[in-house]
Amino acid sequence: MPVYFFTLLLNPMPLNVEQIRKDFPILERETQRGKRIIYLDSTATSQKPVQVIEAMNNYYRRSNANIHRGVHTLAEEATAMYEGAREKIAKFINAATSREIIYTRNTTESINLVAYSWARANLKAGDLVILTEMEHHSNLVPWQMLQAERGIQLEFISVLEDGLLDLDDYAALLDRNPKLVSFTHMSNVLGTINPATDIIRMAHDAGAITLVDGAQSVPHLSVDVRALNADFYAFSAHKMCGPTGIGILYGKSALLEAMPPFLGGGDMIKEVKLRSFRPNTLPHKFEAGTPAIAEAIGFGAAVDYLSNLGMDNIAAHEHEITAYALERLEEIPGVKIFGPAADKKGGVAAFTLEGVHPHDVAQILDQDGVAVRAGHHCAQPLHEKFGIPATSRASFYIYTTKEEVDMLVNGIYKVKEMFG
Ligand code: ALA
Repeated sequence: MPVYFFTLLLNPMPLNVEQIRKDFPILERETQRGKRIIYLDSTATSQKPVQVIEAMNNYYRRSNANIHRGVHTLAEEATAMYEGAREKIAKFINAATSREIIYTRNTTESINLVAYSWARANLKAGDLVILTEMEHHSNLVPWQMLQAERGIQLEFISVLEDGLLDLDDYAALLDRNPKLVSFTHMSNVLGTINPATDIIRMAHDAGAITLVDGAQSVPHLSVDVRALNADFYAFSAHKMCGPTGIGILYGKSALLEAMPPFLGGGDMIKEVKLRSFRPNTLPHKFEAGTPAIAEAIGFGAAVDYLSNLGMDNIAAHEHEITAYALERLEEIPGVKIFGPAADKKGGVAAFTLEGVHPHDVAQILDQDGVAVRAGHHCAQPLHEKFGIPATSRASFYIYTTKEEVDMLVNGIYKVKEMFG
């Protein structure tokens, strides 16, 4: 049996949530109706602490220049800040070297980079790629596009009724000689934390490469890419206190070295002639054009912020909030929660309320300042699997309190009253 994450947390320190909330200016504002913001949508994007906002401001106010291109003071400062952030990010996920950290726009672009570069160089018609039924569209559509173009085969590890992956189904798929297993570490709907170490080990035993969608895991859990032995690992800054517009593709350097470039242009080259070019070394080979410099610096500040809190402490706080939320939501007649029990999931509670459309639930909650997301959350096939078009989803982070969960629960009772 896989060992689930929360059994591994050792003596976490409680987060000082009251203090943390003071770092997030947006949490002080009110809605147009004069209600305090109860932000329960961090799975879509997290809020940003003042430390991140100021790091980006400071770059624009004091050090704005293009990177890697100048010898003047500002260019050198900007380059040092941009590359310094890469070092921090490498350390944060325990990469062997910062050369394995490729800046992209987001998790989606990171997955597309693997699909365009590694997969087009290594997969041919008939080759099998294993995904799961709980994938976000960003880990489905790039592979469907490759299927249409190249004739690769796609198979999907089934999701069980309790929101866990069917690992027997996975073992059977592995007998079919897959070339790639690409899966989410943590579901953005069910919250399921998949047993990534086991999934990767089993894939390697079957001779396959692995790609992990870490968009939801890196913000919430302590992730060690070397302990996981992941070949590729993708994540975004904006779900972990950082800015939008920047993400990471981690890749083992041997794989990245062997891959052709993704986008062509400035910075990704060593030398260009009229009819040819020589690609740059890692990580620059995959970073064409002027990148998101301020965003990279903001990302570095976000990593500092989360590191100071401690990822195990963050995971423990979210676990406590999630367990409380599930307990309170289960009390409400007509509420159905999707996904596993709190000890096997991250800070997400996707639910339906009998007789009320999830969008109506979200809209009525918003009247009291409670922000939840409603819809298929970019995981339409997963919703189809459960026979529903949409869910309402509350999600939690470092600044979430039990009082906010109570506001959510009170709001749902209000929705029930309104709909009789
Ligand atoms: N993938 C993001 C979510 O789950 C946008 O809301």
